[in-house]
Amino acid sequence: MKHLIVATRNRGKIVEINALLAGLVDQVSSAADFVDFPETVEDGVTFEENALKKAREAARFSGFPALADDSGLVVDALDGRPGVFSARYAGIGAGDAANNARLLSECQNIPEEHRQAAFICVLAFVTPEGIEQIFTGRIAGRILSAARGEGGFGYDPLFLVDGFERSMAELELAEKNSVSHRAQAFRKFREYLVTMA
Ligand code: IMP
Repeated sequence: MKHLIVATRNRGKIVEINALLAGLVDQVSSAADFVDFPETVEDGVTFEENALKKAREAARFSGFPALADDSGLVVDALDGRPGVFSARYAGIGAGDAANNARLLSECQNIPEEHRQAAFICVLAFVTPEGIEQIFTGRIAGRILSAARGEGGFGYDPLFLVDGFERSMAELELAEKNSVSHRAQAFRKFREYLVTMA
């Protein structure tokens, strides 16, 4: 594929997405490369709804195929919260530190054996011609009671990855990019692009 628009301004995600699409797309542009890229209102109640809405607006605005992800953390004992509210768990405009502090406080009375959680990533691919495809990735883990590690972004320091016994923030970027929810969704997207080519 020649040109793909990625509908996000999140620098952490852009770095990861460029690595994940290496060799398959000639040019990846992001919302940050446009002055007046539309700000999609993420008012869906599912990751799918939000991802589709963002991808549709990006394809319409740019005239190029667009990819949007909606992702977040789902904690079983919190009935799936923060879920679609992951980016604004501690309020609109809240940063990672405030969101992590809120997560720690919501989880403080949850015993060790009930701290199961998962990162979910839903990718929506939409073309100006009207093709729409959804790809989902998921990685399971547990919520820690204190931050660990310096890598990644968002809730990574509080997420102990199943099978690794290290937090997501303790994984190398390449390691995170081979197992993460986003990596899994992108693997499916890559397979789709290969079959389309
Ligand atoms: P989105 O940008 O609407 O998809 O919001 C996703 C939010 O979920 C981010 O702001 C993070 O708080 C969280 N999140 C998504 N993916 C990750 C990840 O790989 N690590 C840590 N937090 C993540």
